[in-house]
Amino acid sequence: MAATPMMQQYEDAKVACGEALLLFRMGDFYELFFEDAKTAARVLGLTLTSRDKGENPVPMAGFPYHQLESYLSKLIASGLRAAVCEQVEDPKLAKGLVKRELTRVVSPGTLTDDALLDPRASNYLAAVSLAPHANDSAAAAGLAWAELSTGRFFAACLPAARLADELARIGPAECLLSEDAELPPSATQRTMLTRRPAWAFNLETATTALQKQFQTATLEGYGFGDADGPALQAAGAILDYLNETQRASVGHLDRLIPYRAGLALEIDEATRRSLEITRTLRTGSREGSLLAAIDRTLTPLGARLLAEWIASPLTEVAAIDERLDAVSQLAADASLRAAVREHLREVYDLERLLARVSTGRASPRDLAHVGRTLAKLPALKLLLAGTKPGPGVLGSALSGGTPGPGLVPAIGAQLDPCPELAAQLASALVDDCPLTAREGGIFRGGYSGNLDKLRDLAAGGKQWIAQYQAREAAATGIANLKVAYNKVFGYYLEITNSQKDKTPSHYIRKQTTVNSERYITPELKEYEEKVLTADERAKELEYELFLALRDAVHQETRRLKATAAALAQLDVLAALAELARERGYVRPTIVAEPIMEITDGRHPVLDISEPSGTFVPNDAHCGGEHGTVMLITGPNMAGKSTYIRQVALITLLAQIGSHVPARAATIGVADRIFARVGASDELSRGQSTFMVEMTETARILNTATARSLVVLDEIGRGTSTYDGISLAWAIVEYLHDRAGCRTFFATHYHELTDLAQSLPGVRNLNVAVKEWADQVVFLHKIVPGAADKSYGIHVARLAGVPRSVNERAKQILAQLEEEHLGSDGRSKIAVNGKRKRKGDMQLTLFAPPEHPVVDQLRQLDLDGLTPLAALQLLSELQAQLGSTRPAKPR
Ligand SMILES: Nc1ncnc2c1ncn2[C@@H]1O[C@H](COP(=O)(O)OP(=O)(O)OP(=O)(O)O)[C@@H](O)[C@H]1O
Ligand SMILES: [Mg+2]
Repeated sequence: MAATPMMQQYEDAKVACGEALLLFRMGDFYELFFEDAKTAARVLGLTLTSRDKGENPVPMAGFPYHQLESYLSKLIASGLRAAVCEQVEDPKLAKGLVKRELTRVVSPGTLTDDALLDPRASNYLAAVSLAPHANDSAAAAGLAWAELSTGRFFAACLPAARLADELARIGPAECLLSEDAELPPSATQRTMLTRRPAWAFNLETATTALQKQFQTATLEGYGFGDADGPALQAAGAILDYLNETQRASVGHLDRLIPYRAGLALEIDEATRRSLEITRTLRTGSREGSLLAAIDRTLTPLGARLLAEWIASPLTEVAAIDERLDAVSQLAADASLRAAVREHLREVYDLERLLARVSTGRASPRDLAHVGRTLAKLPALKLLLAGTKPGPGVLGSALSGGTPGPGLVPAIGAQLDPCPELAAQLASALVDDCPLTAREGGIFRGGYSGNLDKLRDLAAGGKQWIAQYQAREAAATGIANLKVAYNKVFGYYLEITNSQKDKTPSHYIRKQTTVNSERYITPELKEYEEKVLTADERAKELEYELFLALRDAVHQETRRLKATAAALAQLDVLAALAELARERGYVRPTIVAEPIMEITDGRHPVLDISEPSGTFVPNDAHCGGEHGTVMLITGPNMAGKSTYIRQVALITLLAQIGSHVPARAATIGVADRIFARVGASDELSRGQSTFMVEMTETARILNTATARSLVVLDEIGRGTSTYDGISLAWAIVEYLHDRAGCRTFFATHYHELTDLAQSLPGVRNLNVAVKEWADQVVFLHKIVPGAADKSYGIHVARLAGVPRSVNERAKQILAQLEEEHLGSDGRSKIAVNGKRKRKGDMQLTLFAPPEHPVVDQLRQLDLDGLTPLAALQLLSELQAQLGSTRPAKPR
């Protein structure tokens, strides 16, 4: 079969589409062959059959053409790429083999169809350019990302070590990488990695392609200079890939925005996961995440912007206050908020609509939606123009800044109703606009004189036919004579068999059916011509008018894009205000000093998911006189993890400009937030969990600054108890002495609570429980002081561990406590550790053995030593240490 012309056509298409599965249109089906068929059978659950059941059967699988979108979305969801090869001529008219062409290549990062996209999530295609085989984590890497469905396009140069965090922030659906480069697997965990040839990342080709795309002679106007080579290489690789896979124009990627890392709050990839910011740890779904809990946006524009805000919160007090002012204003003014949100409900996804207009894929209905959105704007502008933040709303005034007119009226000013275009769209398009542009029915009467004439002619012709039927019936005396229509003959006269005799001689017979005869007349055909062509011509004219109207929308891209951005912002601010009112949030006071004062804080997700009123609020005081390191001990299930995450999430919310779930809050801006859940809480990641935990901990210790917020949950749990305690102990000391950052450390190692006595900035907190008749009641209340027990055995009983195991565990516990606790009831390890530290500030819990040189030094009699002998001794000691002297001793 491979020899047939059609299979040759298949082979050619297969070569052209690379690794993608080829969906080959054959009549009413899309068929897959060979390995593609096997993959599709597995992934899509299709039945595997075979073509050519002779000696070399070819595996084949397929599905009906109208199910294309649903199968495509399944393939994409499974991380596969697919190419669609269509029949591009009518098989009935084809001479010989039907012509076929690749019409689209679909991959997770290049989706544009609404049916395949989540309206509330951005869908980015990223590219990373790395020097081949670069191991230097400080080397400059290039990162670019683009969203085909909106036309946004960014690029940045950054140290290779930051790639994973930036990719986690962007969350691309697909990432392009040169075939000779390597990325750490964690960098592309939820991303499909697409290998591209190395030349696709060539700087010269990239620069030329970008200049051509943006029709400029240099990229300096966009803020890219000589040092930005890697960023441009990555951007070039994106263009190259799009040009290869997209059969439609990508002209809407009309500028490249330089992204400067480091302006936003830094949240690394592990922290994003631990805090479940946009997806949950266990299932990876949006539901249950912080984003899902706080999202009250009404438009896809707003939903996507909120996700962006939460992915990169702000670090400048003034910028945060500006947003907070707007949220406060909208929260305080219920009627303004309600009116704004009422309008937003009727706003369409202007950003994606515009992208479809630019790429020539917009439907008449899309244009109507642009029109309806524009029609909402004058009222919305009016609503926002006069608004002023009420008294007590402005925080920037409190913190010393001069309040401007505020974000809300500024957004109002930015909304551009494009009155001429709006009027044109309103007068042009019918209310219920069709999805296709070729079938007519798009324009209102009165919009185009020519169109009206053609439509009249078409309608008038039909009227003429009715009259003609009446006239002929009277003339022939055949009362039931009918004029009818079919595709083969067009209009014809039909006379039943019983009346056949009365047929006039000038009727021309065309067809005989069981009950009747069908005729035509020259007169009938003449009018038919007029009617039918008028109809056709009207449709053609409508299509032309549609293209012109689409172009008129395209002309206003810049104004419409700015308006879309303003609408998105308004939606997010109003949504945050709505959330604040609905959940009783409070405006945080934002300060630059590294402090934190939270009164009655709540966990933003549990606050919503727990039955109303059952979540126990807790205070948090950290920084300054409150100390910097909070050690939280307490029984299992008490709420330690919840508490420390809550503190991080409240800080994060405050820094996006949101009100926070608390009665009062003062938040010192953090430059970085680090959060880690212990190895025991996260098991499914392939690598040794303890190794992962330590790698991540190392990063925190090496990068946390005095302005950072660090949240550590049971660090050190993944190894033996003594190793674990030792590490946890040393980590707390380090964070306290060196980093000096706000730290919340939840732990089961009660030994650590002794650190509060030797380190001035360490405070012990525990979660209160009530013991009552051998029962433990969890109060979930954070109180000062160290916990005395873990109640692990109690929790095991709650979980249904057999009673005998429980009893035995109690016995063993008693025995262990006897062996390991000192007479004062404290762990012997802790007591020793503390003593060591007091004696020598440099020592950690378990000091390394001393070098013999130290002892020699200790025993030296300095009084009896001449300067010469001292020098000689020094040189001997140095020789013993085996140290190599620096080239130029100081
Ligand atoms: N402040 C609170 N108010 C109400 N319920 C809470 C509160 N904090 C925690 N809980 C409930 O207690 C459960 C256990 O909380 P969490 O996981 O924080 O405990 P933990 O102390 O970290 O336990 P473990 O030591 O086993 O890790 C939560 O799932 C939640 O249902
Ligand atoms: Mg916990």
